[in-house]
Amino acid sequence: MEFTVREKIKELELKNKQAYAGGGEERLKKQKEGGRLSARERLDVLLDPGSFVEMDRFVTHRCTNFGMTDKKFLGDGVITGYGRVNGKLVYVYSQDFTVFGGSLSRTQANKICKVLEMATKNGAPMIGINDSGGARIQEGVEALGGYADIFLKNTLASGVIPQISAIMGPCAGGAVYSPSITDFIFMVKDTSYMFVTGPDVIKTVTHEDVTKEALGGAVAHSTKSGVAHFATDNDKHCLLMIRELLNFLPSNNLDDAPVIPTSDPADRLCEKLNDVIPDNPKKPYDIKDIIKEVVDEGYFLEVHDGYAKNVVVGFARLNGRSVGIVANQPAILAGCLNIDASKKAARFVRFCDAFNIPLITLVDVPGFLPGTDQEWNGIITHGAKLLYAYAEATVPKITLITRKAYGGAYDVMASKHLRADINLAYPSAEIAVMGPEGAVNIIFREQIKNSKDPNSTRKELTDDYQRTFANPYRAAELGYVDEVIEPALTRKRLIDSLEMLKNKHDTVPAKKHGNIPL
Ligand code: HXC
Repeated sequence: MEFTVREKIKELELKNKQAYAGGGEERLKKQKEGGRLSARERLDVLLDPGSFVEMDRFVTHRCTNFGMTDKKFLGDGVITGYGRVNGKLVYVYSQDFTVFGGSLSRTQANKICKVLEMATKNGAPMIGINDSGGARIQEGVEALGGYADIFLKNTLASGVIPQISAIMGPCAGGAVYSPSITDFIFMVKDTSYMFVTGPDVIKTVTHEDVTKEALGGAVAHSTKSGVAHFATDNDKHCLLMIRELLNFLPSNNLDDAPVIPTSDPADRLCEKLNDVIPDNPKKPYDIKDIIKEVVDEGYFLEVHDGYAKNVVVGFARLNGRSVGIVANQPAILAGCLNIDASKKAARFVRFCDAFNIPLITLVDVPGFLPGTDQEWNGIITHGAKLLYAYAEATVPKITLITRKAYGGAYDVMASKHLRADINLAYPSAEIAVMGPEGAVNIIFREQIKNSKDPNSTRKELTDDYQRTFANPYRAAELGYVDEVIEPALTRKRLIDSLEMLKNKHDTVPAKKHGNIPL
């Protein structure tokens, strides 16, 4: 007997219900007990209400090993599709731990590749929610191939669309490499972890005892390794933070960075800033006080806030326009550049440049951190990353020297010589090859040694050096600094510069790709 249309619709409803059930109530309960949301609940929080459209809901695996023929779940452990975040199109996948531990099968990989390819073709951000036991063990090399297919798609999409990864459960072995290719990694404290080899393998190989959390939890990766850009408190916080970040980003590399109208006046004077730099150049201050005073409504979304704190990076808006801010932090390690800070800032600069987000650089840097640790671990190569990233960047680049800009670090921090567009300085700026004490000790070594009173001679020579070189005016005479400004004018002048550079167009010579010192 033929089925009626009504009956066929009923069949569809039944299949949908089966798919929505994931791995079943028991496993769902276990997931919730662990403090985690389900894969579908996560999409509900991430996306605008009612905007999610699912694809490939009925896909199942094709594995016949280990009795898998009879064990099939509609969707095969990942939910894929598209939706909106604050009205903007995004593509998503959300791994479902209740189905084979969210493990990656050949068909799960196909589903992920399909949305990733659509996101790239249609120029919209890709957000991946990871919660998986890794390669589907029953499938062997097919699952490994699936991972590699995803890595390739991630790589090809890099610099074309923003890619964001949320780690909301396990992410181990080779599975870590897809998130690590993406632009930003969010982790959830206590419930997520990432590592190439877990505690058991480590114990066997190196005899170290370490817990999953200590090894690869959100805190470890957002403070020690720098793998994670954001450590969040729970699933909901994580997903809302992703929405927040997306507000600063264009949809793709051909779009302009978004402009969100603000009621904060473009010409607002920042009188407080006239008192923010201490009279004593050795005294620290918090660079974030300047950032928050200057940007629209004081709102600064800091990226990587727990890692390499001697440099601060993040997004803000100036007269509504998204900007990327890179700033030395004199309150930590005197704001010097070291390996971690160079890598952190370089990656951020490249992200902004890839996605047309103007760069504002605040400079207060006494130089590169000295020491065998830094030299032997390659500060030469890593410091060059930042230099390269700034030199290569063609987005509007505005630099403000608030205090120290010494030595090679002066060059690196978006100097005029690396084709920054507008270079500003406060009257407190000191632009020199090195600090006055160090300089005097080297160039007047004999004179100090032979003087009757070395201490007072040193002081006299240091004061003289300070007057002659430790100011912004030599650089201003040479045009390396375009204007020396009163700090109160900072917001107005940054916005004037941004408006002036609105239609900036610059290029790099045609090439396959450069060879950044990796
Ligand atoms: C198939 C898997 C699975 C996997 C978990 N499951 N991982 N099924 N392949 N990789 C299944 C379990 O059998 C179980 O099924 C369900 O998912 C939940 O798993 P539990 O172990 O009960 O959960 P939990 O105690 O929370 O432990 C989670 C876990 C653990 C730590 C992730 O499951 C685990 O260690 N899994 C194996 C991890 C692993 O070694 N993966 C391969 C890594 S190598 P039932 O039916 O009981 O619910 C890799 C290479 C990639 O990924 C290389 C790419 C280049």
